[in-house]
Amino acid sequence: MKIVITVGLPGSGKSTYLARRRLNAISSDEIRRLLADDPRDQSINARVFSTIRHLIRQRIAVRRRVTYVDATHLTRWERRPYVQLARRYQCKLEALYFDVPVETCLRRNRKRHRLVPESAIRQMAARLQPPTKEEGFSRITRLPPAR
Ligand SMILES: Nc1ncnc2c1ncn2[C@@H]1O[C@H](COP(=O)(O)OP(=O)(O)O)[C@@H](O)[C@H]1O
Ligand SMILES: [Mg+2]
Repeated sequence: MKIVITVGLPGSGKSTYLARRRLNAISSDEIRRLLADDPRDQSINARVFSTIRHLIRQRIAVRRRVTYVDATHLTRWERRPYVQLARRYQCKLEALYFDVPVETCLRRNRKRHRLVPESAIRQMAARLQPPTKEEGFSRITRLPPAR
């Protein structure tokens, strides 16, 4: 079994990539909507990510081959729980890294209805730690692919 997490700023194209491929992903925005009626509510993040981990464990229990998680997962600290889950349940762990310039993310974000404040995205860009194999990923797919 395998856990695949996205890594990328708001507007980097995570949800679009998964939707285009019809991949059924556990999405942090969707969990926020289910828990707090608002996909933007950042005040309940601990519950959101604990719910995500619960859903992953339930999917592992019913032997789903692959579980995708759609969230920003910008730092090593935010990704660590998946490393631990993968180890504990002997799953492979992979990352889809949306390596998109912050200016592109900002431009796409401006066109969206559900606008994330520009300052918030810039702060997130400053915090972003690209995923590495050393932290526990067996594979990191960088998007867009290098040409
Ligand atoms: N590869 C792409 N090229 C151009 N625009 C894109 C691309 N991927 C996503 N977009 C657009 O950028 C915006 C943000 O995409 P989205 O998938 O919601 O990002 P995220 O889930 O990372 O916040 C959407 O309006 C989407 O249509
Ligand atoms: Mg999204």
